[in-house]
Amino acid sequence: ALLKGGVSVMNKRPMLLDCDTGVDGAVAILLTKYLNTLELIAVTTVAGNVEVEHTTRNTLQVLELAGMEHIPVYRGAEKPLLCEAVTAHHVHGQNGLNDMTLPKPKREPEAMPAWDAIYKYAKQYEGELTVVAIGPLTNLALAIVKYKELPNLLKRIVIMGGAAVGGNVTPCAEFNVYADPEAADMVFTCGAPVYMCGLDVTMRAYLTAEELDEIASLDNKQAVFTRDVMQGILKFYRTYKLGGVAFHDPVTVLYADDESYFQTDLAGVRVETKGKLTRGKTVTDLYSDKQMEHNAFVVTNVDRDVFKKRVFEILAKYGE
Ligand code: RIB
Repeated sequence: ALLKGGVSVMNKRPMLLDCDTGVDGAVAILLTKYLNTLELIAVTTVAGNVEVEHTTRNTLQVLELAGMEHIPVYRGAEKPLLCEAVTAHHVHGQNGLNDMTLPKPKREPEAMPAWDAIYKYAKQYEGELTVVAIGPLTNLALAIVKYKELPNLLKRIVIMGGAAVGGNVTPCAEFNVYADPEAADMVFTCGAPVYMCGLDVTMRAYLTAEELDEIASLDNKQAVFTRDVMQGILKFYRTYKLGGVAFHDPVTVLYADDESYFQTDLAGVRVETKGKLTRGKTVTDLYSDKQMEHNAFVVTNVDRDVFKKRVFEILAKYGE
């Protein structure tokens, strides 16, 4: 059991979610309610898919939809460390939730900024906290710069980002890393154990239009919301011939909860920040004879059937 001030507070390990809540980030939040090994204790927001005002509002709204309005939310960076912000409105809609309207949030985010909150919880749960970061890594980078001891306090950092092969914003860069490559490289080199759920695994964690409709037939508010909020990105993914839509952020949360149905490889990972064509690429030695310093773990595969089963299991719990 986890002790806080000597009193056991939970038999799961604490998780802080750092997110740029768009449509798949919203589903990831819903899944955090019923994980097997992790307990969500705080959420920090960052600009990414859409502006930080929207990602913060979306986060507050989805936590209320999930019945988790007691989880504190801390607003974070409104732009990357050094470069101009990029957004993905064409994928997530103007408001980031496929332009669906959820009730106005009942509360505001906490006054403390995200980077201070990450440190606060890392101290409080020294050695136990998992940070799951499913957006650009600006908040984590700022926390690492401000609090040198942070990497030694964290149990691990699990990110949705990067790609050992390929890219989705350029031929060789994935959106979250491309949005703030300097921040991403700081995270990969900070010294904490970093687990990279890049496109290599997240594109294999897709659901088809039919499977999304099956989710809706679980017939509870959260499951129907999941099907509805993913309709815009599902159409966008038709151009990929994937046969469905990748659940990038949700599968990253499920990986952090239980890695038994995934393939994880120790590797070197650094981020290109200078390349004209390659800026934002996560450079790894996974498929190279030239080895790098092995500073991270790259997740390269998932059993899609188990992934699908876990999504259904969790969303069904909202109706129980
Ligand atoms: O490249 C996939 C990532 O970009 C996911 O986090 C998704 O939310 C999009 O923002």
